[in-house]
Amino acid sequence: MDIHDKKIVVFGGTSGIGLATTILLSKMNAKLIFAVSRNPEKSNLNNITNVELVKIDVLDENSLSSFFKKIGKYDVLINAATGGERAIGPFMNMDLVGYRNSFKKLWGYTNTVSIGLKQLSKNGCIVLVSGSPARKCKAGQIALASVGGAVEAFSRSLAAEIKPIRINIVSPGVIDTPMVQLEGEERDDFYKNATKDNLIPRSGKAEEVAQAILFAIQNDFITGTTIDVDGGWLNS
Ligand SMILES: NC(=O)c1ccc[n+]([C@@H]2O[C@H](COP(=O)([O-])OP(=O)(O)OC[C@H]3O[C@@H](n4cnc5c(N)ncnc54)[C@H](OP(=O)(O)O)[C@@H]3O)[C@@H](O)[C@H]2O)c1
Repeated sequence: MDIHDKKIVVFGGTSGIGLATTILLSKMNAKLIFAVSRNPEKSNLNNITNVELVKIDVLDENSLSSFFKKIGKYDVLINAATGGERAIGPFMNMDLVGYRNSFKKLWGYTNTVSIGLKQLSKNGCIVLVSGSPARKCKAGQIALASVGGAVEAFSRSLAAEIKPIRINIVSPGVIDTPMVQLEGEERDDFYKNATKDNLIPRSGKAEEVAQAILFAIQNDFITGTTIDVDGGWLNS
């Protein structure tokens, strides 16, 4: 698919991986990119002519329905919204409400696909963002692994149902984004420690993941698959 002149929706398009994707698609002259989140005003996307900021919670089905009705036919749906909080730690020490709440990411993804699919062009495509714990879980990541695994199974299963529309997953490893709120030395140490066993021992950049999302959109011969951008996490 040629990006030029396409209408694209990026849920979570105002921070981190989604923001880098919005900026990349804007530079590639997409016709219009809707960058959607709960607090889009926090982003620095205000003065870009082909980007429109939209305030929606992906868990709010009524707002999603009104939004998709309003925008009409469009070409690409991307969802990189975290959905809410994430539970970290061993399952047996975990508050079950926290574990269940981690699935808000999945519900946000399934809401946007279910409600947004009707208006998606038949030549269109969907890209969802999972995460490397889905297929290689390290200590303390069981909630992330469970949700990521569900997102990947959902996408693989849906691919056959919605053809010729394509759906693919991009799976990031440890990426330096505002999702981690540590600062200074503490932040550097966190990323150093989290990536020390990887084949490429550094955190990834949001732009490196955005490139894979772009590839998943542009390449018309892939569907139902996962593209890993993880510094060799799966192989480490
Ligand atoms: N960074 C990593 O190391 C990493 C690793 C593996 C997987 N991932 C996955 O990659 C995706 C992007 O993560 P990121 O690091 O870019 O996170 P981020 O910088 O925190 O960005 C998350 C985005 O999602 C939006 N969002 C969250 N909940 C939402 C909701 N309920 N409704 C609408 N928008 C919502 C946020 O905006 P508002 O807060 O304004 O709503 C923000 O724009 C996520 O699915 C994450 O699980 C990230």
